[in-house]
Amino acid sequence: MNPTSALFAEPPMMGELRASGALTGTTAQFDTPRGSGLLERTSSFNDWREARTRHGMWQYARSLEGAPLPIASVCAENGDKVRGINFASQDYLSLSMHPGVMEAAMRALRDYGPHSAGSPVLLGNTRMSLALEQAISELLQMDHVVLFPTGWGAAFGALAALVRRDDHVVIDALAHMSLRQGATVATENVVTVKHLNLESLRDALSRIRHQDTANAILVVTEGLFSMDSDSPDLTASQALCNEYNATLLVDVAHDLGAMGPGGTGAIGTQSMLGRVDLVMGSFSKSFASNGGFLATHSMAVKQFVKMFGGTHMFSNALSPVQAAVVLEACSVIASREGDELRESLMRNVGALRGELACEGLRCLGDPSPLVPVLIGPEDVSRLAGRLLFDRSVLVNQVEFPAVPIQASRMRMQVMADHTERQARHAARKLRKAVDDAQSMLQSAPAACPL
Ligand SMILES: Cc1ncc(COP(=O)(O)O)c(C=O)c1O
Repeated sequence: MNPTSALFAEPPMMGELRASGALTGTTAQFDTPRGSGLLERTSSFNDWREARTRHGMWQYARSLEGAPLPIASVCAENGDKVRGINFASQDYLSLSMHPGVMEAAMRALRDYGPHSAGSPVLLGNTRMSLALEQAISELLQMDHVVLFPTGWGAAFGALAALVRRDDHVVIDALAHMSLRQGATVATENVVTVKHLNLESLRDALSRIRHQDTANAILVVTEGLFSMDSDSPDLTASQALCNEYNATLLVDVAHDLGAMGPGGTGAIGTQSMLGRVDLVMGSFSKSFASNGGFLATHSMAVKQFVKMFGGTHMFSNALSPVQAAVVLEACSVIASREGDELRESLMRNVGALRGELACEGLRCLGDPSPLVPVLIGPEDVSRLAGRLLFDRSVLVNQVEFPAVPIQASRMRMQVMADHTERQARHAARKLRKAVDDAQSMLQSAPAACPL
């Protein structure tokens, strides 16, 4: 056990743990509280969160005490500290401490200061942000790019700007919350289709077009789904959109930079560069910063989204440092060094998936920087996540609303700078944590020493 981690230093009383409610329940129970007290009615959720926090089962509020490196120091909400193997950061290409990226950040800080001091339409742009639009446009072979302060802002802003009340959004069941919330804000006509299922997509498109030829349809999917590590058939999806006079939007937040020829992601892998209607993404994974973008071939779409997607016009532009970092990351991503980083990343991914399989654990999807390990029940997952933290292995334990209830998983995120040894160590520790969690739960309500 890590000496600085105290929560489970004493044998946890499983009866007490169970009685606290920390092992049961999901956020689904709390998202629509009733009552006239707008503020007061938030308290039942917080009571549950506090019970989980008291028992070290609230995995959401940990903080890094340094850079997101493969070995990292992390502080939990209660002050417990752990230094361990980090499979919980999404710096896929390990660019956050890359010398060229650091130098670009420091140069921008020196020349521009830290503040963009305005939205992009009100003097918030810099030479770097304009060059960044160009770099993304070249990477994706799309003519125009709009920048946003976050990937969330890009998803939400694109949908809010382009989709009108009478239009339709057809969205993959596992699409990211930013896309789903953007869709729901834009229209009530949101149809969810089965994950990656082209028949389900065709059915939805044909049903909508049968009833409504007057309004638009936006089909929304992702290049790489982060909770399942899988990708849609983009060629077939775009062809279906063309057939039914619909528009395709692909969110490439997780694959752009990290995968595909020259870092072009699933779109590049599937030879669809420049052939998808709308591409949006985030700089928060492989580009070592924050920010997001929408790419299009149409100047009219670009200008419309800038004006009517609130998150571009009414939110401060990327800071000069963020713009410079992403710009430098783009040039690494497109270079020979970028190829080598992707090779190293995928070697580590292969090693981790291989080790997890040897341990009898089930990884979902295809090889990508995201390795989701299916656990299932929330109680096993929460307890195993806490044990792993105590044993100095950092992973993201994921549950509803990010994934369905009873389909909890450990989402491991691999970086280029990980080693095969770290992969082996983490897989063994994960196996042991799951086994220990299961036997602790079975032995309840007796006291269970670690
Ligand atoms: C698929 C997807 N889209 C959009 C976003 C939002 O990106 P950002 O973190 O830049 O706000 C994320 C981030 O988790 C994501 O996974």
